[in-house]
Amino acid sequence: MNDVKNLEKRMHELGRALAGDPAAFLAGREASGPGEESPGFGPRTSPEALVYDLIWVDDFHVFLGRHVSSPDILPFPGNLCGLPLPPHAPSRAWLKLEEAILRFRPVVQPGWQALEIGCAPGGATTALLDRGFRVVGIDPQFMAETVAANPDFRHIRKPARYATREDLAGVNPDWIVMDMSIPPRDALGELSHVLGILRDSQGKDLALRRGFFTLKLNDWKYASEVSFYIKRLTQFGFEGLKPIQLASNRQEFFVYSGKFRR
Ligand SMILES: C[S@@+](CC[C@H](N)C(=O)[O-])C[C@H]1O[C@@H](n2cnc3c(N)ncnc32)[C@H](O)[C@@H]1O
Repeated sequence: MNDVKNLEKRMHELGRALAGDPAAFLAGREASGPGEESPGFGPRTSPEALVYDLIWVDDFHVFLGRHVSSPDILPFPGNLCGLPLPPHAPSRAWLKLEEAILRFRPVVQPGWQALEIGCAPGGATTALLDRGFRVVGIDPQFMAETVAANPDFRHIRKPARYATREDLAGVNPDWIVMDMSIPPRDALGELSHVLGILRDSQGKDLALRRGFFTLKLNDWKYASEVSFYIKRLTQFGFEGLKPIQLASNRQEFFVYSGKFRR
């Protein structure tokens, strides 16, 4: 019982530290060395250690997670990486893409092209443009002005299922990023439509090598279909799939693909 009380106390302290003053929290992390006790948060983890996260929600709910420790992730329960949202990012989706890049470390080459499906208002597009990508975005909604005015961005302003070969002329993306606010089966259907056009138009020259997919679990019933969604992505040609709940994800999950089969 004492252990449970201690755990509860530590989770409350962690929550307060993150909500109140993340900078001081991070500074505290820098101040103590590896293996040292950090006041209130338990022992630090060494890189590559397997960490089980026990998150005390309330008296009836405890979440159990598991992650591999790395120097880029805070060495405390929660698997957080502490990335701040920059003021010029038009949405929190900036965090999702940057967190995925931090965790999966894909090669990033300025001048590459990214296709983003569900790109408005432009958080992830901003991250891509800042990293030197040229971006084509598909979304029926408007983009933030700063993104729309960027000469390295082109907007196809319609639902992805209506994108045509003409819309996608000259599009041969190295990366595909997808983040649509529709049920996962519909999102995957629209992704399949876009991939079909890219395969037809580019054939063996298709450059695609990485995928970054956010799938919305707008209804909790979709959680039971996660393995089906992963299977669909595999059928489309995405390999090396790594499904994960990013710290910046909400009622959704993320899948990284490190390879595409042409
Ligand atoms: C969570 S927001 C995307 C955030 C965006 N990735 C960013 O970085 O700011 C979801 C978006 O999906 C778009 N969407 C919904 N249905 C779509 C469809 N069929 N095709 C393309 N985009 C769609 C919505 O218009 C909305 O802008």
